[in-house]
Amino acid sequence: MARVAIVTGGTRGIGEAISLALKDAGMTVAANYAGNDERARAFTERTGIRAYKWDVADYDACQAGCAQVAAELGPIDVLVNNAGITRDGTILKMSYDMWKEVIDTNLGGCFNMAKAVFPGMREKKWGRIVNIGSINGQAGQYGQVNYAAAKSGIHGFTKALAQEGARAGVTVNAIAPGYIDTDMVAAVPGEVLEKIVAKIPVGRLGKAEEIARGVAFLCSEEGGFVTGSTLSINGGQHMY
Ligand SMILES: NC(=O)c1ccc[n+]([C@@H]2O[C@H](COP(=O)([O-])OP(=O)(O)OC[C@H]3O[C@@H](n4cnc5c(N)ncnc54)[C@H](OP(=O)(O)O)[C@@H]3O)[C@@H](O)[C@H]2O)c1
Repeated sequence: MARVAIVTGGTRGIGEAISLALKDAGMTVAANYAGNDERARAFTERTGIRAYKWDVADYDACQAGCAQVAAELGPIDVLVNNAGITRDGTILKMSYDMWKEVIDTNLGGCFNMAKAVFPGMREKKWGRIVNIGSINGQAGQYGQVNYAAAKSGIHGFTKALAQEGARAGVTVNAIAPGYIDTDMVAAVPGEVLEKIVAKIPVGRLGKAEEIARGVAFLCSEEGGFVTGSTLSINGGQHMY
């Protein structure tokens, strides 16, 4: 039977490419999203992948959403925690709400979703969890204490959960994308973006499909010996 995968924020941007890559790999995919119904509807029409609306920052909504996906598509084998937001500003201008929203969505969402699917994966003795971090969680970024902290937290979360899953056949890995050509990056002012691209050794923004290829590998049968790792896909912008 086909593996069942949930991709949070799976209806546009990097998530859309991940949903498609996992479908191409033969999985039955559920793409979660937060509120952009129009983009979700267009995504489902175009790809045939079902979209499910809930807020990953809401613990109870994650439990209910995963239960619905499992009832409709089957027990969940693969989780990609991709949903993420930015609320940028220097700490002088960052409100508590801007801090909390980013932490609750980007990092809290990983916990909320893993809580829903990890027990079932352990029981089946097979599972794949991939968390989408960021170059800015590795290197920090001016005006992003909330985002950098959340993404940095994802890398620690990944390594800790990987240790809990290893004996039970559940791998947990992270991908740290550099700057990828999506709506999120389109929101960065043009002159700032030009300076960012100038610092990328490969000389261009990345493509969502380039992240999706990495995710598909980590979620494959062949990826079973890779766990607790972070794969940086950033055009050489940050190496360590
Ligand atoms: N783009 C980059 O350069 C870059 C670089 C490094 C890391 N990343 C990370 O990669 C991931 C995807 O980024 P992207 O650029 O593809 O973002 P994007 O184009 O803004 O898409 C974000 C997706 O996440 C969903 N989402 C947002 N908040 C959510 C919530 N609370 N609950 C459920 N879904 C939610 C959105 O749903 P709606 O459509 O309903 O709004 C959308 O599907 C994020 O975690 C981001 O931090 C991106």
